[in-house]
This record gives sequence, structure tokens and C-alpha cells, in this order.
Amino acid sequence: MTKLQPNGTLWRDTDGNPIHAHGGHMLVHDGYYYWYGEDRRDDIYVSVYRSKNLVDWDFRRHVLTVNSPCEGYRVRTDLALFREADGKKKKVNIERPKVLYNAKTKKFVMWAHYENGENYLDARACIATCDTPDGDFVYHGSFNPYGNMSRDCTLFIDNENDAYFISASRDNADLAVYRLTEDYMNVDRQVHTLFQGEFREAPALFYRRNNGKYYLLSSWCTGWAPNQGTCATAHKLNGRWSLNHPFGDKTTFDSQPSFVLPYVKENGETVFLYFGDRWGGNGDKYFTSSYIVLPIRFDEFDHAYINWCDVCEI
Ligand code: GAL
Repeated sequence: MTKLQPNGTLWRDTDGNPIHAHGGHMLVHDGYYYWYGEDRRDDIYVSVYRSKNLVDWDFRRHVLTVNSPCEGYRVRTDLALFREADGKKKKVNIERPKVLYNAKTKKFVMWAHYENGENYLDARACIATCDTPDGDFVYHGSFNPYGNMSRDCTLFIDNENDAYFISASRDNADLAVYRLTEDYMNVDRQVHTLFQGEFREAPALFYRRNNGKYYLLSSWCTGWAPNQGTCATAHKLNGRWSLNHPFGDKTTFDSQPSFVLPYVKENGETVFLYFGDRWGGNGDKYFTSSYIVLPIRFDEFDHAYINWCDVCEI
């Protein structure tokens, strides 16, 4: 059994520095777990760390910053990665970055949530790509898919082929589910609009082969403050979804979902690990936010649940 870094403490990389990978995502590639997430320091937007064992994390690079290269592509987007105010470069917001590898184009494609840095009214998706998992990503701009608002988001690959982007739309009232184009560079079709009027955000999706069900975790919208998480299930992403069922306690153990990692143990068994952000308090929210990792269990009705543990053992 391996013990992960303790829940709710400041996780550190192998240099002893705090890990800045908030609202993040993990990609498994060539035997490594790559952990991408928000890094709100200085001119940084997204950093990546990598590990072979989920315990020792090597810092690799600030993959997206205010100074990242920008390049348009066939989709019309807004390429601004910063705004000018008082004669200075001011940061925009790039939140909840998620990265998938596209085997056809051999590109690592990042989708995230863009806001202008002054308010949360632009509500756009944004895209960046790279030829390696931990190189300098090229920014391709922000846009509103089909004109929709797009806030908290996630990416998901279904059966090695189809990729999906899920994001909070209509001022967070609904969660839109989009199938992506084969290069993962645009939405190809809106296949569902979930939880009409339920204001669910922070989506995290996983698929359980045992019962052929998709599980979608989300939080309610209370800014940085945690609330009761929920989980809904479906046999098809574009099919009928169950009602949302409570997941975790009234504050999801003081966390908000960032992603779920299907972790394959040495014996071949898959354990689904819930990764949540425990955002810091007011004024301190960017530098000391910590992570909560809990193994997801399933009850007799196949409902997903988590129990608190100080240290996750895998
Ligand atoms: C939360 C969201 C975070 C961040 C925050 C800003 O609801 O999940 O990603 O956008 O609001 O207040």
C-alpha cells in the first residue's frame, strides 16, 4: 500500500515547494501521471507536475503563462491572454485546465475556463496545445461554444475515441455536454444539457466498466465556499440521467471536485480516486489551497460515496 500526502495539508513537490495545481486534471502518459492545474502566482496560469506513484511530484513547467505564444486556428477566437490596464499587463483568469492527448494529431490539447480578469461575465472556453505533455503550450484563444456561456468545465475520453467537454452554461443554471471534433479543437455537437436550473458546477466524470455507468460528480455554486457534492449516473452520456444523489458530507469534506482519477492497481483492479480542492480562506485562497483525495466506493444501489480518511492509501 502507498500512502499519499495527507489530506487537507499543503502538498509539496520533490523540491519541497507547494504544489500549485488547483482545479486540475491528471493525464496518464508513458508511465507518468501528469498533474495540470491552476497556478495563480505572478504571470503563471497553468503548471504541470509529474509522478510515477502519485506521491513524489516533480515540477515540470509553467505550461501556460501571460507570455505564452498565441496562434489562431480555424475557429474564430479571442487570442487575448492578458489585458492592459494602467499601462500594465494584467492577468485574465484561466481556470480548471484539463488536458487530453489526441492520438490522431499527436497533440496534447488543453481546455479551460477563460474570464477577462475583471469579472466573470465573458464565461468562455479556451484552448491551448503542445507537442509534449510538459512543454510550452501554444494558446489558441477563447470562445463561447455555440454562443453558450461556458464556466466550470471538464474533459472526458469515452472508449479511446470520442472526447467530451462538459461546462456550466446559462449563468451556471445548466451543464452542457459537448462531443468534440476528432482533433479535440472544437465542439462537434451538444449532446445533452444536464440538470436544468440546478446550478451544478465543478463537474468531474468517470466511467465504471463493472456496471456500464457514467458517474458525474458536481458541486453547487457557492464560489470558493464548499457545499454538498452530488453524483448522477447514466448508461449513455446523451441518455437519461438519474437525479443527483448526495456525495460526501454537507461540505464534501470541505472540498470541491476537480477530477476523478481511475487508478489501476498492480492486481489490475481499478480504484476511482476523488480529487477535490480545499480552497484557502479569503485572501489566502491561491497559495495554500490544498487537496483532498478519497477513494470512491459504491453501495448496494451502486451509488458512489466517500468516507473521510486523513491519508489516502492506494
Ligand atoms: C467557483 C468555481 C471556481 C472559481 C470560483 C470563483 O464556483 O468552481 O473554479 O471559478 O467559483 O469564485
